[in-house]
Amino acid sequence: MAQKWFRAAVLAGFGVVAVVIAGGGLIADDKKDDKKDEKLPDIAEIMKKAHEKTDGYLAKLKAAAKNGKWDDAKKTAKDQVLIAEALAKNEPPKGDKKSWEKLTKQYTENSKKIEAAAKKEDAKGVTDVIAVIVPRSCGECHKAHKP
Ligand code: HEC
Repeated sequence: MAQKWFRAAVLAGFGVVAVVIAGGGLIADDKKDDKKDEKLPDIAEIMKKAHEKTDGYLAKLKAAAKNGKWDDAKKTAKDQVLIAEALAKNEPPKGDKKSWEKLTKQYTENSKKIEAAAKKEDAKGVTDVIAVIVPRSCGECHKAHKP
């Protein structure tokens, strides 16, 4: 009898710990999102975050899709869409505003295509957008807007 109570108490204890951990995670995530809104990352920072060879979002997405790590892929795809939206909010350092709007919109749409494919756990969809569509956009935008 006493043992039963002990077990129940231990299980209840675990329950509380799990709730506290889950709650803490949520609060931490909220804080992170607030921070993103507070400060708009500049273009150079965005370019690095998204495109770095091994640690950039696109490289991570390609690897995650290849290895079937869909939780990672979905999370990174969301970050990629957010950063594309942040890119669009920046002022172009060079070139015409209309062209900037068009090209950043294209980049955001490509990022959303990646996210949609990640949500469907479609590895080919993710890698096709990254391997074919996105690299084409780099040169086009740099030619018009990179000083
Ligand atoms: C919609 C426009 C746009 C697209 C698309 C784009 N870039 Fe850029 N990128 C820029 C601009 C503008 C700069 C210059 C930023 C500055 O000097 O202020 C830049 C700068 C860079 C830099 C230099 C960053 C630094 O440290 O100064 C790298 C690297 C880069 N881009 C990589 C890429 C790659 C790789 C792609 C495609 C996968 C890409 N960019 C797509 C607009 C774009």
